[in-house]
Amino acid sequence: MLTLNCTNADSMIIGEEHGLNISQEFDNYSDKIADIIKSLNQRKDKLGEGLQWMNLGYNEETVWYVKEFASMVEGRFENIVVLGIGGSALGGLAITEALLKPYWNFLTLEQRNNLPRIFFLDNIDPDSINGLLEVLDLKKTLVNVITKSGDTAETMSQYMILKDLMEKELGDEYRKNIVVTTDKKMGILRQLADQEGYKIFYVPDDVGGRFSVFSSVGLVPFALVGLDIDKIMNGVKDMDLELKNTNIHQNKAAQGALIQYLMDKKGKDISVLMPYSSRLKHIPDWYIQMISESLGKAYNRNGEEVHTGITPIKAIGATDQHSQMQLYNEGPNNKLITFIRVKEFDTTLEIPKIFEYTGIGYLGGKTVNDLINAEADSIKVSLSDYKRPTITITIDRIDEYHIAQLLYLLEVQTAITGELYNIDTFNQPSVEQAKNYMYALMGRAGYEGSAESIQNKLAQV
Ligand code: PA5
Repeated sequence: MLTLNCTNADSMIIGEEHGLNISQEFDNYSDKIADIIKSLNQRKDKLGEGLQWMNLGYNEETVWYVKEFASMVEGRFENIVVLGIGGSALGGLAITEALLKPYWNFLTLEQRNNLPRIFFLDNIDPDSINGLLEVLDLKKTLVNVITKSGDTAETMSQYMILKDLMEKELGDEYRKNIVVTTDKKMGILRQLADQEGYKIFYVPDDVGGRFSVFSSVGLVPFALVGLDIDKIMNGVKDMDLELKNTNIHQNKAAQGALIQYLMDKKGKDISVLMPYSSRLKHIPDWYIQMISESLGKAYNRNGEEVHTGITPIKAIGATDQHSQMQLYNEGPNNKLITFIRVKEFDTTLEIPKIFEYTGIGYLGGKTVNDLINAEADSIKVSLSDYKRPTITITIDRIDEYHIAQLLYLLEVQTAITGELYNIDTFNQPSVEQAKNYMYALMGRAGYEGSAESIQNKLAQV
């Protein structure tokens, strides 16, 4: 179903300087890993640990409410616009891009089985917001405002713009075109949503943005565009059960985490995630946020200054073979590259047998499927020739079940890596600090004190 192959990170293949004696290391760390897995599973129900995302696969009530809402609005909207940033957008973007038919927003209504297009507005670039507004018919648009804190400036400013325009165009009816996903109690959006009478979904307590994709944060948009959220949840649950195994030899998340951690100790503190599929092109974006915010920490749990972190990089196969691969092969040997491979693509595309007597004749009669697989295989071999460590995750196919398995695996892997570093994986003090600086600069009440000092610093930098 989902396999993890670490052979090309092993010293047997790439030598001792750059590889690990993997089976030896698994044995060395087996007790520590078992303790970590036990501890994560014991702490996951305790509020304040940041681990409630490990329970999301079992949240049948939310799935029921989301499906009910999706069926209530079925056929009413041509467009879904998600307003959100960071963890409130990246998982949704990654999964819809993977699971919807390619070029979904360009398909006709009929080709989309009467399902809406979906747009993620995850930036505050005025040109792109204005551009999107030009193509939307607001009467046929459902806006899903997603912000856990309920006051993130980027998301709230987009909401204010959309709400204002929709009210002007739709009158009082605009309320039916807005659905909110936010914290149960906290935040300005929570209060506004009540006052306005919007439909509200909650981000469960103790689920941080970057671990929220399987909460209503992801499920609402997924259900609205017709994805099977039961299958998504089954993927999460089955993977969760598998990853409860405390034996590192049978736990892929633990294996991935330990290899990443030990490679960092060997000076390979860059992690490249490289899916061989364009449909998976936003999964590295989601992964980048998760790794950056989870593992980039100044202090460990003992209060010691550690400055941990792995620098994540996005690459897409085969495209980036023609962009980044030269560096990966011949540049500094400071990366661990994780390939994501797909066993069976949904379709097969044959290359016609033309130009037979030319240099490209060998391609004729083969399939594009053969070609992308051959490209991935050849890169794996060439990287190992250069003694570059790689790992390969293979999923059977791109569907709800397997994509959910893949993302959940990477979440648990990140949590275990954080435990190996002994850091708080689930806080993000620097993200909060940047938000506070921006509030001060934009004149938010309560931040006047820091505004002056930030202005002074700004004059110097
Ligand atoms: O992972 C996180 O916690 C952050 O990246 C948040 O998702 C991001 O800052 C958006 O926050 P919010 O959902 O509160 O608008």
